[in-house]
Amino acid sequence: MSDNVLMSTDFKDLRLFRRGKVRDVYDLQDKLLIVSTDRISCFDVVLPSGIPYKGKVLTALSCFWFDLIKKIAPHHLITADISRYPQELQKYKKELSGRSMLALKTKPLPVECVVRGYLSGSGWKEYQKLQSVCGIKLPPGLKESDKLPEIIFTPSTKEDKGHDVNVDRKYVQMQLGKEITDKIADLSIKIYAEAADFALKHGIIIADTKFEFGIYNNEVILIDEVLTPDSSRFWPAEHYAPGKPQPSFDKQFVRDYLETLDWDKAPPGPKLPADIIEKTSEKYLEAYKKITGKELKKT
Ligand SMILES: Nc1ncnc2c1ncn2[C@@H]1O[C@H](COP(=O)(O)OP(=O)(O)O)[C@@H](O)[C@H]1O
Ligand SMILES: [Mg+2]
Repeated sequence: MSDNVLMSTDFKDLRLFRRGKVRDVYDLQDKLLIVSTDRISCFDVVLPSGIPYKGKVLTALSCFWFDLIKKIAPHHLITADISRYPQELQKYKKELSGRSMLALKTKPLPVECVVRGYLSGSGWKEYQKLQSVCGIKLPPGLKESDKLPEIIFTPSTKEDKGHDVNVDRKYVQMQLGKEITDKIADLSIKIYAEAADFALKHGIIIADTKFEFGIYNNEVILIDEVLTPDSSRFWPAEHYAPGKPQPSFDKQFVRDYLETLDWDKAPPGPKLPADIIEKTSEKYLEAYKKITGKELKKT
């Protein structure tokens, strides 16, 4: 495997807070060290192959958006500049560089704040059956991938194993109360609106996305990664054609390849061929460049 792929970290003197599908998170007491590896998951299964630069793109893109939307929502990012990390982390500089961030440690709210501007995925499935998404009634006659008349908040549960389950706003209210539910729905819609508008000017449709929020000092703040190809559906705007599924900007090569195999989508996932890995890496880098207007710093 190429030198610049990091599949996992194992910082023995730090306390592991959580190893997610893509990120290794370490507990620094009042702060978290979030490391984006180059792991890729498809159909909720982490594959044994890594994608060069993926972790760096996710980190740099999240940092870009945190800054752009800071006027709308407070967020957890303290810094991604290693020289400002605590002394005890400096020895891990090589692994951490470009792919990590120091963040405020929050109490995460147990809900995935999904926002949709277009009709796709599980939203399209529910619409075909019920003409609604997460209990929100929509006009008749919409086609797959159509732009929605307005942006909708369509939350889901946060499942440790398996797929998240779509729920309606009432369900979230019962768990978190009306005040917090209104707050996270409102913030999610406002952030998405601003970001989708920005991305479209740069040739990318953000069809939908997922935010996570946490409580810090009794305040709701934005956590996790934001508006990356992993947490969102990115579509190339120039090929947008409703009435069918749209190609995914980043994972399409992987999905198409996996569909050619006789794999039941249960772990363990198959290894990816070198050309699929390379083309996918290029797509992540391209998404970063389109949105920020800059090449990713590779070192
Ligand atoms: N500031 C924060 N405070 C607490 N938890 C956080 C914070 N930022 C991210 N997290 C959590 O860290 C994990 C990130 O790892 P990830 O690979 O995305 O996991 P997953 O497989 O659950 O998506 C998520 O569970 C997320 O909720
Ligand atoms: Mg995640």
